[in-house]
Parts: sequence; C-alpha cells; structure tokens
Amino acid sequence: MKGESMNRTTRILLLGAALVLLMAAAAWANDCIECHEKETPGMVADWRISEHSKNDVDCETCHGDKHSTAEDFLLAVLPDEHVCAECHEEQFDSFTHGKHNHGWTVLNAIPATHWAPDELIEGGRGCGGCHNMGVRSEAQKAEQFEKGYRYQTNSCDECHTRHTFSKKEAQNPRACQQCHMGYDHPQWEMWSSSKHGERWFAQQEGSLPEGASAPTCQHCHLPDGTHQNKTAWGFLGVRLPLPEDPQAAADRVTILKALGVLNPETGEPTAILDAVKAVDMARLDQASWETERNKMLETCTECHSRAYAQQQLELGDAILTKADRLMAEAIEIVAGLYRDGIIQKPDGYPFNYPFILSLMHTNGANWDQDLDKLSYIDQVMLRMFFKHRMRAYQAFFHVNPDYAYWYGWNMMTEDLGEIVELDRSMRARHAADK
Ligand code: HEC
Ligand code: HEC
Ligand code: HEC
Ligand code: HEC
Ligand code: HEC
Ligand code: HEC
Ligand code: HEC
Ligand code: HEC
Repeated sequence: MKGESMNRTTRILLLGAALVLLMAAAAWANDCIECHEKETPGMVADWRISEHSKNDVDCETCHGDKHSTAEDFLLAVLPDEHVCAECHEEQFDSFTHGKHNHGWTVLNAIPATHWAPDELIEGGRGCGGCHNMGVRSEAQKAEQFEKGYRYQTNSCDECHTRHTFSKKEAQNPRACQQCHMGYDHPQWEMWSSSKHGERWFAQQEGSLPEGASAPTCQHCHLPDGTHQNKTAWGFLGVRLPLPEDPQAAADRVTILKALGVLNPETGEPTAILDAVKAVDMARLDQASWETERNKMLETCTECHSRAYAQQQLELGDAILTKADRLMAEAIEIVAGLYRDGIIQKPDGYPFNYPFILSLMHTNGANWDQDLDKLSYIDQVMLRMFFKHRMRAYQAFFHVNPDYAYWYGWNMMTEDLGEIVELDRSMRARHAADK
C-alpha cells in the first residue's frame, strides 16, 4: 500500500516536472518568435506563411537554441544544406548531382577570381552573389570564415527564398532571373522575349487558358521536380571529341589553348584541364554529350515533332561552329601580337598567349596592380567570347531571333573588325617606336 502511494506521488511529481519542462520549452520557442517579431517582423511573417510553420519546423530547428539574447546572436547556427537534407534528402541528393553543386568551386577555380576585390567574391555581391551555389567543403567554409564572411552558408534558399521556402516561388521562372541574365548568360532576356516566354506571360495574364503549353526554365531544365541540372554544351560551348571537319577542329583547338586547357606551344593537356574535369565544365566524350541532348530532345517532343525539334537544336550546334571560326580568327590575331613581342606576357598568365579565363583582368594581376598594363585588344577579344559568342549560340537554344543575330553574331563581326584594326595600328606603332 505504502509503496503504491509513493509510486503515485513520484508519478505526479514526474508529470509535474515534465509539464514545467514542456512549458519552459514552449516559452523558449516563443522567445525566438516574440523577440524577432519586434527585431525582424518581415522574417517572422514569412516563416508564419510557410509550410514549415504548419509542420512545426521552427526557428530552433534550423538555427539551434544557443542564442537567446540580443547580444549573443553569433551563437545562432547558420544552417547549411545538410540541415535541409535531414528532412529533404531526395532534393539534396539530386542537387548534389547537378551543375549547381559546382557553382562555388568553379568560381574559385578561375585565376581571375582571386584578382578581383573580395567584396565581389566572398562578400557575395558580384560573382559570389550568383555562384553561392553548391555544398561547400569544410575547407571552403573555413576560408570564407577566416576572411570575415559569416553568411551565404546555404544554396537551398536561392530558388525558394527564406523564410517562406515556397515551392510555388521556385516553379516561377523569375526564381532563375537574378543569376541567369545579363552579360554572358542572358537566358532570362532571351526566353522572356521568345514565343515560349510570351506564351507563359500571356497565360499568367489570363490571355491564354490554363491548359495551354508554355515551357518555363524549370520545364526544360529541372523537369519533374529534379534538382539535377546539366546541359549538353554547357556554358563554355566546347567539348570533345573534336569535330571531323579540319577547320572546325583547328578552331576548337585554338579556343582550348586560349582557355589554358591545352598548352599553346605543345598542344598537350594542362593542369587547367584537370580543374575543368573536376567540376564537369565540359562534356569530354560523345556519349555524355548525347545523354544530355537526348533528354532535352525528349522534352521538346512533348509539344513539337521530333524532326522539328531536332532541326532547331542542330541549327544551334551549327552556329556554334561558325561562331568559333570568327572567335579563333580573333584569338590568332591577338596571339600573333604575343608571339611578336608586341604584347608582353603578364605574370599571372599561364602562357605567352591570350588567356580567356583572365576575364577583363588582362594585366593578369590583382585589381589594384599594374593597371597600366591592361591590354585593350585582349579585352575586345574577351568581350567577343563572353558577351557575343555566348549570345550567338545561346539564343538559338532559347529561340530568340534578335539575340541570335543583332546581339550575338553581328556583334562578333564588329568585335573582329575592331581587333583587325587594333592589330594594324599596334603593329604600325610598334614599328615606328623601333
Ligand atoms: C531577446 C531577443 C531575441 C531572442 C529571444 C532571440 N533573438 Fe535572434 N536575434 C536577436 C537580435 C537583436 C539579433 C541581431 C540582429 C542584428 O544583427 O541586427 C538576432 C539575430 C539572430 C540571427 C542571425 C544571426 C547572425 O549571424 O546574423 C538568427 C539566425 C537568430 N537571431 C535566430 C534566433 C533563434 C533561433 C532564436 C530562438 C532560439 C532567437 N533568435 C531568439 C534577438 C533575439
Ligand atoms: C528551414 C530552416 C529555417 C528556419 C525554420 C528558419 N530559418 Fe532563419 N535562416 C535559414 C537559412 C538557410 C538562412 C540563411 C543562412 C545563410 O545564408 O548563411 C537563415 C538566416 C536567418 C537570419 C540571418 C539572415 C538575414 O536575412 O537576416 C536570421 C536573423 C534568421 N534566419 C532568423 C530566423 C527566425 C527568427 C526564424 C523563426 C521565425 C528562422 N530564422 C527560421 C533557415 C531557417
Ligand atoms: C525538421 C524537418 C525539416 C527541415 C530541417 C527542413 N524542412 Fe523543409 N519542409 C519540412 C516539412 C515537414 C515540409 C512540408 C511538407 C513537405 O512539403 O514535405 C517542408 C516543406 C518544404 C518546402 C516546400 C514548401 C511548399 O511550398 O510546398 C521547401 C521548398 C522546403 N521545405 C525547403 C527547405 C529548406 C531549403 C530547408 C533548409 C534550409 C528545409 N526545408 C529544412 C521539413 C523540414
Ligand atoms: C549574374 C550572376 C553571375 C555573376 C555575377 C557571375 N556568374 Fe558565373 N555563371 C553564372 C551562371 C548563371 C552560369 C551558368 C551560365 C550558363 O551555363 O550559361 C555561370 C557560369 C560560370 C562559369 C562556367 C561554369 C561551367 O561549369 O561551365 C564560370 C567559370 C564562371 N561562371 C565564373 C564567373 C566569374 C569568375 C565571375 C565574376 C568575374 C562570375 N562568374 C560572375 C552566373 C553568374
Ligand atoms: C535552381 C533552383 C533550386 C534550388 C537551388 C533548390 N531548389 Fe528545391 N525546388 C526547386 C523547384 C523548381 C521546385 C519545384 C519542383 C516541382 O515542380 O515539383 C523545388 C521544390 C523543392 C521542395 C518541395 C518538393 C515537393 O514536391 O514538395 C523541396 C523540399 C526542396 N525543393 C528542397 C530543396 C533543397 C533541400 C535544396 C538545396 C539542396 C533546394 N531545394 C535547392 C528549385 C530549386
Ligand atoms: C524550351 C526549352 C527551354 C527553355 C524554356 C529554357 N531553356 Fe535553357 N536551354 C535549352 C536548350 C535546348 C539548351 C541547350 C542544350 C544543349 O547544350 O544542347 C539550353 C541551355 C541552357 C543553359 C546553358 C547555356 C546555354 O544558354 O546554352 C542554361 C544556363 C539555361 N539553358 C538556362 C535557362 C534558363 C534560366 C531559362 C529560363 C529563363 C531557360 N534556360 C529556358 C532549352 C530551354
Ligand atoms: C543564385 C544564382 C542562381 C540561380 C537562382 C539559378 N542558377 Fe542556374 N546556375 C547558376 C550558376 C552559378 C551556374 C553555373 C554552375 C557551374 O556550372 O558550375 C548555373 C548553371 C545552370 C545550368 C547548367 C548550365 C550548364 O553548364 O550545363 C542550368 C541548366 C541552370 N543553371 C538552370 C537554372 C534554372 C532553371 C534556375 C531556376 C529554377 C536556376 N538555374 C537558378 C546560378 C544560379
Ligand atoms: C510545353 C510545350 C513546349 C515545349 C516543351 C517546347 N516548346 Fe517550342 N514552342 C511551343 C509553342 C506552343 C510554340 C509557339 C508555336 C507558334 O509559334 O505557333 C513554340 C515555338 C517554338 C519555336 C518557334 C518560335 C517561332 O518564332 O516561331 C521553336 C524554334 C521552338 N519552339 C523550339 C523548341 C525546342 C528546340 C524545344 C526543346 C528544347 C521546345 N521548343 C520545347 C511549345 C513548346
């Protein structure tokens, strides 16, 4: 009897203790919200309308519970992708198999990145603002932290932004716009003013019925909820094996030399090729190119005949070969100036040869050094590569006539004209100076 009542007392005590703990936990949970409701009301409002708040995924689930006052906020965990993966393994896994997962690594593999001011890279307000994509290694995180940059630890909030984390937002092509626009990859501008984009906007505005087909970026590049993105040609528009046509093959080789992937003197592969391989920058055999191409072709055939779609894609391949004829011509003219000692090799260049991956830092040096050594003819060549060659071929794949001709192909011709003229005047000046 006695033992039983002791037991009951213990049970009541335990229950009471548990209740107090639960209430404390609830108060704790409300602490984040209560205080942040005042500190950062917009953020709390976003969280409240999210699926997360409806499913008990709270502030502490992602940020931990170590921080509780206005002073100790540095104790809050900034969650990386692994935290999301705890509940969204499928999306995390497919993301890590796509090209977005290389975004940060690829940025840092380019020599010119380290010549630019940190604010643009680690600070995330330039190259780093778009290349904040991909799960970072511990070493990459440590480097970022040492430089004094604490944020940008997560790439999952790039399409479904915090703290709404909305699926619907990510399905909207606008989610891609910030990064896929502008100078060297104006996919947003090309798509939104193509018939594909026009139909999507018309549909949004109610001018086309809901059932009308209007392909978005996601429809072609992230079909069926996959997070794995990759295209056949990729960004650089080079691949292996070399084309059969001897001129086309020679032109591709010239571009590979200017990318620093082949040694311009020996034609042998370089260490940069290993870096390119490591981040899957180009398809290095026919099969891996065809896999991606066939997937895309399947998507087109949802709405077009196979013959129609195939012809459209082949037109894109063909214009790339023709654009490369102009591009190689430009590179060879500039290479001649290096060979003849009219342009001196910058220290940061791998070879005595034009170097595409210097971007506009054609002095091959840190942003505040050797500014008088910036080579203008090299910059025109780089503009031709990054701005106009990109547009000339990308516009075919995104079905945009004006980008293909006036903004792309035609401007390549203009760049080449400028390079021819600069070459003449540089040679004349060099001869006169002698
Ligand atoms: C007493 C008020 C208060 C409470 C309680 C509180 N926070 Fe904060 N929190 C702040 C303030 C103030 C900042 C700093 C804001 C700033 O930098 O202006 C902050 C910053 C943060 C940051 C950003 C950290 C950074 O590095 O910028 C996170 C994440 C955060 N809080 C999450 C939480 C979570 C999760 C809880 C609950 C476990 C919580 N907060 C509880 C006031 C509070
Ligand atoms: C599903 C996970 C998740 C939840 C839930 C969550 N956060 Fe965050 N939060 C993030 C991520 C991701 C970042 C961005 C971290 C980065 O980029 O380094 C972030 C950043 C922040 C920041 C700093 C960045 C900024 O824009 O000011 C604050 C403050 C913050 N969260 C507060 C909160 C508060 C308060 C809550 C609860 C109302 C909350 N978070 C709930 C994932 C979450
Ligand atoms: C503790 C588990 C948990 C964590 C951690 C978590 N989520 Fe969620 N998330 C959920 C649940 C539960 C849902 C609602 C059910 C569903 O859609 O699976 C959800 C839904 C979502 C959705 C779909 C919302 C919609 O509009 O349908 C997105 C996007 C999302 N989460 C992204 C993230 C991201 C990004 C992170 C990391 C910053 C994260 N989640 C962390 C559990 C979690
Ligand atoms: C506006 C956003 C944005 C900025 C700013 C930006 N990039 Fe990119 N970058 C992208 C996108 C988007 C792609 C993929 C484009 C494509 O495939 O057409 C890309 C592709 C690349 C690639 C090729 C990756 C591959 O695997 O083929 C490299 C290298 C690169 N960027 C370097 C840089 C450097 C260096 C800077 C700064 C000097 C920079 N980017 C600035 C968005 C950006
Ligand atoms: C390039 C843009 C992009 C990035 C980056 C991204 N997502 Fe998504 N996410 C999407 C799109 C688009 C959808 C909608 C897919 C669909 O239509 O089913 C989505 C949907 C989701 C959903 C909802 C799934 C469902 O059907 O309910 C979750 C969860 C999610 N993403 C998690 C993540 C996580 C975790 C990461 C980081 C590893 C991430 N996402 C990064 C574009 C992105
Ligand atoms: C109708 C399908 C379709 C739509 C819609 C579409 N793309 Fe593409 N995209 C393609 C094709 C086809 C390629 C070239 C694939 C190849 O290399 O064979 C491509 C290539 C790309 C590339 C690699 C470089 C390039 O431009 O060739 C990126 C990045 C890209 N698209 C992003 C986007 C974005 C962002 C949107 C929306 C603004 C978009 N795409 C809309 C079909 C589409
Ligand atoms: C935060 C910036 C950012 C956003 C948002 C973004 N991307 Fe990207 N995307 C990149 C970068 C950077 C790369 C190049 C990564 C690499 O190749 O290393 C890239 C590459 C790609 C590629 C691969 C091109 C190739 O080389 O094969 C495709 C396709 C693509 N993105 C589609 C999308 C779509 C569709 C969306 C929207 C749902 C989107 N991206 C949103 C930054 C972004
Ligand atoms: C979801 C359906 C859908 C998908 C997928 C799709 N398209 Fe289209 N496409 C359309 C529609 C609808 C039109 C408008 C037809 C018209 O102009 O009468 C169109 C128009 C075009 C046009 C002609 C534009 C013009 O100026 O007349 C081309 C070229 C094209 N698509 C190529 C492609 C290619 C290549 C793919 C695959 C990479 C593709 N489409 C995928 C629906 C689609």
